[in-house]
Amino acid sequence: MNDLDTLVESARTQFAAASAPHDLENAKAQFIGKSGRLTELMKGMAQLSPEEKRTRGAAINQAKQAIEAALNERRQTLQDAELEAHLKAEALDVTLPGRQRGRGGLHPVTLTMERIEGIFGSMGFDVTDGPEIETDWFSFTSLNNPPNHPARSMQDTFYIDGNGADGLPLNLRPHTSPMQVRYAHAHVRRYGKGFDPRSGRLYDGPMPDIRVIVPGRTYRVDSDATHSPMFHQCEGLWLGENVSFSDLKTIFTGFCRTFFENGDLVLRFRPSFFPFTEPSAEIDIQFPSGPLAGRWLEVAGSGQVHPNVVRHMGLDPERYIGFAFGMGPDRLTMLRYGVNDLRLFFDGDIRFLSQFE
Ligand code: PHE
Repeated sequence: MNDLDTLVESARTQFAAASAPHDLENAKAQFIGKSGRLTELMKGMAQLSPEEKRTRGAAINQAKQAIEAALNERRQTLQDAELEAHLKAEALDVTLPGRQRGRGGLHPVTLTMERIEGIFGSMGFDVTDGPEIETDWFSFTSLNNPPNHPARSMQDTFYIDGNGADGLPLNLRPHTSPMQVRYAHAHVRRYGKGFDPRSGRLYDGPMPDIRVIVPGRTYRVDSDATHSPMFHQCEGLWLGENVSFSDLKTIFTGFCRTFFENGDLVLRFRPSFFPFTEPSAEIDIQFPSGPLAGRWLEVAGSGQVHPNVVRHMGLDPERYIGFAFGMGPDRLTMLRYGVNDLRLFFDGDIRFLSQFE
């Protein structure tokens, strides 16, 4: 093996030993850089004869080419390895499970509201809502409450600063019943019939059926395991030329049996009193079996709309008659899911709420 072969061999060995591009470039300089070993060999040709120069020059050139080839090959290998490492580091495992967002769910009382709306909707009832800040007139007077009725007292009803159009303090509505009168006004006016508030005269034209439910938030000064200062009600009103108390029984019985998916559910209409209905009844239900069997559970107040209320709707009570009810969706939710403390619904504890998804 001559000196050039040895040189090429040693270049290959050193290149192979370089494990990073930086090392490789350093190794290269030892052989083909300005002060590299090949350059030195070239300088050493000065004393040779022209004939010797040619053969020696050709041999040195060959060696140089061999070294450059080895260098390029090693460069490529290092580049490939670097790319490979890079790709590996950035690799995506497409089989990993995705990052998930927690799926929200509806509040149990919202589920009940939707259920109520669906059932009454299927029976031809409109669904609407109304203001939670009410005037004294809509909350009490229009509903036939005498001026000093205890429901108006600060022990029962929340008041806020400011007076309504009637000049009396505004309240947080203690029930959804004000919407009976509001809805009748809006509905009757929409058809251009009914009450002219300025002349105070009744317009006695034909009126479309008023058939509506009003789910929403209500407020009372009350707080224990079965009462919350904010709670829900759902008002119902059906008014027409021939709507009777027996329609109330049919409608409400059908509703309860559908709501609880129990065709054997028993209802009881227990005589009661509300200023805005006459006669009035509390509605109790009883499950024929299961954990609540045998107990009467109160779910709503109801009655035939009082003639004074019909008058405040702008309608002639000699002609229009019907029923109203007000039920407690919170109570219905407790009964449906077996929850015994109303406050759980409003604490906002996800561990409780997520059970209803
Ligand atoms: N508004 C009554 C209450 O809050 C319920 C009710 C509504 C009773 C409609 C009769 C008719 O207790």
